[in-house]
Amino acid sequence: MLNWEIEDQKTKNHVGALKNYDNQEKIEESAKSLIENNSSEDALKRRVKVEDKRIINGGTDVNQLVPFKYKWAWEKYLSGCANHWMPQEINMSRDIALWKSPDGLTEDERRLIKRNLGFFVTADSLAANNIVLGTYRHITAPECRQYLLRQAFEEAIHTHAYQYIVESLGLDESEIFNAYHEVSSIRDKDEFLIPYIDTLTNPNFKTGDQKGDQELLRSLIVFSCLMEGLFFYVGFVQILALGRQNKMTGSAEQYQYILRDESMHCNFGIDLVNTIKLENPDLWTKEFKEELVDIFHKAVNLEYRYAEDTMPRGILGLNAPNFKTYLRYIANRRAHQIGLPQLYEKEENPFPWMAEMVDLKKEKNFFETRVIDYQVGGALQWD
Ligand SMILES: [Fe+2]
Ligand SMILES: [Fe+2]
Repeated sequence: MLNWEIEDQKTKNHVGALKNYDNQEKIEESAKSLIENNSSEDALKRRVKVEDKRIINGGTDVNQLVPFKYKWAWEKYLSGCANHWMPQEINMSRDIALWKSPDGLTEDERRLIKRNLGFFVTADSLAANNIVLGTYRHITAPECRQYLLRQAFEEAIHTHAYQYIVESLGLDESEIFNAYHEVSSIRDKDEFLIPYIDTLTNPNFKTGDQKGDQELLRSLIVFSCLMEGLFFYVGFVQILALGRQNKMTGSAEQYQYILRDESMHCNFGIDLVNTIKLENPDLWTKEFKEELVDIFHKAVNLEYRYAEDTMPRGILGLNAPNFKTYLRYIANRRAHQIGLPQLYEKEENPFPWMAEMVDLKKEKNFFETRVIDYQVGGALQWD
């Protein structure tokens, strides 16, 4: 509340002072000061308080990063920046020589690489557009927005990395960049995602009631758990498995950095989802959970079809049954992370080496130290 007596005296002082001023500039300066003094109580009330901040439907000023409430988001932003990398830093000369050598790779390996890139060259643009044109404006916590800005730039770096591989190998750009229209196993994955992206990017879409908030939450879950957390993983395993066989090591190194970024995007998304759930418990209804379980099953089937299509005969010690197990293992993990029931019988991870890929530091080039690491670890035998 304003103390009117004090405020009145302040005003009188200013008026008195104004009489003595002989130039316009000083008068304006004093008037400005008067306004500032009179509105100081209101200004104090407007200051952002931690307890008022919300991930969605918040009323606090989104331009004020601090005081922090969601420290996990800020820490992920700092980690993302600390892991900064650029595609051109990675030497692609061995990949180029291998690709150009007629006996360097089998036909199945070439098909796998092209189908793999065919998904990824557009997937990260979808991800970036989803953040910039959709998710960002619906999130009202500035520390989460700060991470989303970093994430959007990382998606741009990923698209750049895939383009850089396509260009380095001299692949047919038009074939690879159009694969998401022309190759059904890729198109089906993207068509599955599009409605969830459209929800968030629709200019008329609003949150603020249960229906809108659930739509947002559903899209966030599909994006973090199923796109970044599931649809990328067959592709990552494939190229990293090639790298473990000393093939396409430059591309594999690019994928290794991308995997590390994506793993953080996925974890950020899961933290975001779980915090929205905590702040809005009414959204997590029985019907909503059942619907999500169906969506998860659908995504696993689509990704399995993609695995079969990219490797019809099984190569690199990988085959379709490996991937069925792997996808079920990941889907169970994602479901558990957001509090959904277990989706499949408990599965073991058939690719335990993938976990080590995520943890590797940029300073250490995995594919130069691979033999020593895996002779010690002996995690997996390749035929
Ligand atoms: Fe990405
Ligand atoms: Fe991502």
